[in-house]
Amino acid sequence: MAKNVRDSWGSRLGIIMAVTGSAVGLGNFLRFPVQAAKNGGGAFMIPYFIALLLVGIPLMWVEWSIGRYGGGFEHSSAPGVFHSLWQKNRFIKYFGVIGIFGPLVIMIYYTYIESWTLAYSFFSLTQKYAGITDQISMQSFLRGFQGLEKNQYFSSIGTAYIFFLVTFSVNITVLNYGIRGGIERFCKIAVPVLFIFGIILLVRVFSLGVVDLSKPDWNISNGLGYLWNPDFSQLKSAKVWLAATGQIFFTLSVGIGVILTYASYLKKGDDVALSGLTAVSMNEMAEVVLGASIVIPAAFVFFGPIAIGDIANSGAFNLGFVTMPLVLGQMPFSEIFGFLWFGLLFLAGVTSSVSLAQPAIAFLEDEFNISRKQSVLLFGIVTFVMCNAAIFFLSKGVVDELDFWGGTFCLVLFATIEVILFGWIFGINKAWEEVHHGADMRLPRIYKHIIKYVTPTFLLIILGAWFFQEWLPIIRMDNVSLVNRPYVIATRVGLCLIFIVLAVLVNIAWRKRKIKGRRV
Ligand code: PFF
Repeated sequence: MAKNVRDSWGSRLGIIMAVTGSAVGLGNFLRFPVQAAKNGGGAFMIPYFIALLLVGIPLMWVEWSIGRYGGGFEHSSAPGVFHSLWQKNRFIKYFGVIGIFGPLVIMIYYTYIESWTLAYSFFSLTQKYAGITDQISMQSFLRGFQGLEKNQYFSSIGTAYIFFLVTFSVNITVLNYGIRGGIERFCKIAVPVLFIFGIILLVRVFSLGVVDLSKPDWNISNGLGYLWNPDFSQLKSAKVWLAATGQIFFTLSVGIGVILTYASYLKKGDDVALSGLTAVSMNEMAEVVLGASIVIPAAFVFFGPIAIGDIANSGAFNLGFVTMPLVLGQMPFSEIFGFLWFGLLFLAGVTSSVSLAQPAIAFLEDEFNISRKQSVLLFGIVTFVMCNAAIFFLSKGVVDELDFWGGTFCLVLFATIEVILFGWIFGINKAWEEVHHGADMRLPRIYKHIIKYVTPTFLLIILGAWFFQEWLPIIRMDNVSLVNRPYVIATRVGLCLIFIVLAVLVNIAWRKRKIKGRRV
């Protein structure tokens, strides 16, 4: 059988846009403001920036480097990349399975939420929610849309399902055109457009005057103050540090095998040091400047200091799909601004979800020599079935469960493995050389020590703390209601099965390789 020709990036700007696209997502615009508001406001930014410097940026460099290194052995997913870093070890490739499994699990629920943003941008344009002016009714609009209740707005989940089908097809189409012709081409347009949408919304929010003249304190500067005024007492809580580190992982898309897959399509002499840092900077701009300036300050101006606390605590979904439509609905040209807001979320979502799909597709292409089109088709069929579980069991705790294992646990675990593998097994001197190969900047020397000692220690402490504090309650499902437990158990069994299937596939692929006499 002829070997597939490996895909590659068309330009440096292309991969930077693709990695930025992966990083900038719903996490920047919905998850970040909620996390910051809940965990100490301005004080949250201290652990946040410490985690960025000690974990986020080093991991970005590690993933770009090991990805490009593994790509040199024609591997684009974590099992093969890990194996090329530690060729003598027979088991390391199985740890790499997390780098396909984790993104797949996130993708299952992420795509569904992404489809809500498409639906809401359509609803904005057609003014479907225009008459709704209170939280309760907007909440029931959302619940009706999600198929959780029948009401005057929606009689079934049908509309949501149609938007999901469209969103899923958009993702599959982009993936079908491959790295250069699909992901790169799409991100080179979508990323600048979403930044422009974000800037327009920021200007709009910043120019909001006082809406209710009897309440002059409900203004934009107090709105920004609500998010940024520090509450330093919060820094004593381990929870705040965990939340900040978790946000850094999630927002940068590091520690899960996605960036590594993208970087594997680089050429040996391509820069990874400056490009990695550029992608981090773009993401931080989208998060700290745009993400922080839109939802919370706007909601403050309309709902005031008391309600905003409850709004922030009610979570990212509520903020995005209940509060924001209400806020936007009260602005002149609400259909345009609503469209911009949800359009922004949709573009940010697609550029992230395609990156979540790529590791699994690359695995099929590289290790089984299946053509791209067939890999995408196979991947599409399997994930489509899985997404339906998220759609129909949304209210049963399935999405939270997927988010915990894929979006939290696997991230920290995989990050710990990859950084130890790079700094200790591959060896920090070789690693340092690898990062600088073809590099357009030199990393500050201190990062040699950070990558070797600080990042792994930080991660091991988090993993340890999590283990001691949360292991039992999670296994016992203390926080899951009795009615939801069977669904949560079924989700866990399903996840174990997916993991086992992937591990078996790795085993088969490597046995085939041995027969063919290839070492790595
Ligand atoms: N970084 C994305 C966001 O902020 O929404 C989410 C994400 C994408 C996480 C890809 C992990 C990943 F591999």
